[in-house]
Amino acid sequence: MSSQKQFPHFMLKEIYEQPRAVMDAIASYLSPESQQKALEDVRLSDEQIQQIRKINIVASGASRHAGMVGEFMFERLARVPVEVDFASQYCYRDPITEPGELTILLSQSGTTADTIAAQREAKAKGARTVAICNVKGSPITKESDGNVYTHCGEEVSVAATKSFTAQLIALFALAMHLGSVRRSLTAAETRQNLDDLMALPQKVQQVLETDEQTKVLARQFEEFNSFMFLGRDISYPIALEGALKLKETAYIHAEGFPTGEMKHGPNALVDENLPVVMILTRDRNDPEAAIRHEKSVSLLREVARRGTKVIVLANPDDADVRQAASHIIPVPSVLGLLLPVLEIIPLQLLAYHIAVLRGVNVDHPRNLSKSVITE
Ligand code: AGP
Repeated sequence: MSSQKQFPHFMLKEIYEQPRAVMDAIASYLSPESQQKALEDVRLSDEQIQQIRKINIVASGASRHAGMVGEFMFERLARVPVEVDFASQYCYRDPITEPGELTILLSQSGTTADTIAAQREAKAKGARTVAICNVKGSPITKESDGNVYTHCGEEVSVAATKSFTAQLIALFALAMHLGSVRRSLTAAETRQNLDDLMALPQKVQQVLETDEQTKVLARQFEEFNSFMFLGRDISYPIALEGALKLKETAYIHAEGFPTGEMKHGPNALVDENLPVVMILTRDRNDPEAAIRHEKSVSLLREVARRGTKVIVLANPDDADVRQAASHIIPVPSVLGLLLPVLEIIPLQLLAYHIAVLRGVNVDHPRNLSKSVITE
């Protein structure tokens, strides 16, 4: 991959490392040589997997957003109920842990104090723990019963980018493994999912090619002081993550909402001073996705009629969206559960370019650090 010299900031370099990070993560879980090692590290026997009754995912910040995507993956592929929590809130709940519960700790660094505290609480309550982590030998990996490593190399910029997409791949691979052991996936579904996974690095590369377009959009939107991000279904956590990227790198107020919640309150905020970023990609294999998509397009038309500036992420051949929106970033079609891997990339780029235009120290934003080692 490109050397640091070619990039003015680590954040941009790390965004551009994502095709490689995604490819390495996929290879580490699927290639015959490394798969055995990955299964040994996770330390979950087939019997233990069959006995899982519930999964708790506990994490902070961007890692929690990845966990929210994981919720869809585990529920759809492995048919296990999932609960996702803020690590910083977990201990205060005096969480109820029943036999057969698996607690997954997601952390890029493996040093986040809130996540370590939650891990200890879960273990004290008798849960089995698996860490999904980028740093081998970090405290979280040492204290967990099993580990899944994200293999994306060191991430320097405070804003999580390549570690986030690598976490999504790790979650998908683990959910596929659980689904196949629990026999909740047919052989045909498994094959289709793996085909889509293998095609992903190429599509990540394709999304990066929208960088110039994103830079132009950044110039048009850099002066706004507040943004709204909307996503439905599995794209909702990506709306949250897109908003987080903009907050932490550009110091701009941004909020993410589920698209379907608009009429329950956030719609009142919308006017010409509040740009909306709408994730409007769709899963073509899911017949119900067409109905959800139609609802989102109708909201897009309504918002655009009010003079609001809207940036839309959509599949390139979406004629309805093309008619209704003027700023469209194309995102290739892929299996619905993998769409978040592609959707987040233009939002990382948008945050990066706006931050640079506003003169922010993008790799080291004020008041934040890469490793949050105190609660
Ligand atoms: C994300 O861009 C931030 N750097 C932050 O939210 C981070 O994800 C969070 O502090 C958790 O860190 P971890 O993944 O290393 O545990």
